[in-house]
Amino acid sequence: MYSRALPLLKVGVLVSGRGSNLLALLRVQKAGGLGAEIVLVVSNHPGVPALDTSALFGVPASVCDAKTFGGRARAQAEASRLFRERGVELVVLAGYDRILAPAFVSEWEGRVMNIHPSLLPAFGGSLHSQREAVEYGVRVSGCTVHFVTGDVDGGPIIFQAAVPVYQEDDVETLSRRILAQEHELLPLAVRAYADGRLRMRGRRVFVEEG
Ligand code: GRF
Repeated sequence: MYSRALPLLKVGVLVSGRGSNLLALLRVQKAGGLGAEIVLVVSNHPGVPALDTSALFGVPASVCDAKTFGGRARAQAEASRLFRERGVELVVLAGYDRILAPAFVSEWEGRVMNIHPSLLPAFGGSLHSQREAVEYGVRVSGCTVHFVTGDVDGGPIIFQAAVPVYQEDDVETLSRRILAQEHELLPLAVRAYADGRLRMRGRRVFVEEG
């Protein structure tokens, strides 16, 4: 098995629901291929499947919801505090359905990545990108892993994967095809970050071969 000289990068994951990207990350971690350890999962909704997935893998999890904490910014400030407390070095948004408050973005700048189910900048800033892609009639779509900045879905792009869009597609079939790519791409991006192989120049991200 691959062995690293570097200590494992500590990762915090923000989730909101189904958690299939979290599961993909945890599977790669378990197989020893992530170069990182997910030390805390924070959900902004209670009772979601992503929390069951964390429990299944023995990863600590917390719920920071806007209702309990008095608003989105406060809930995210609490998430931030918990990440800091755990020594988190990289925050991954894996199906997180809220925009990050400016304070969170500036605290974690360059250390937050997101997975988005379209080829950005197409169909950014939406929670329905796959539907929009089908309705727009594009022939190619895909997913993007990018660093998070104050510009929603506009941060520097780390990796993209393309999939075809067929005439017969509906939102479910396209979403499924994109999701399979998401599950490959997100762990690769975390791995590249953990290995220190990502270099940012302006808004371009250069990736050294692993
Ligand atoms: C994914 O399509 C992701 O790209 C988007 O939200 C969805 C989350 O899915 N940001 P899951 O919770 O990881 O299954």
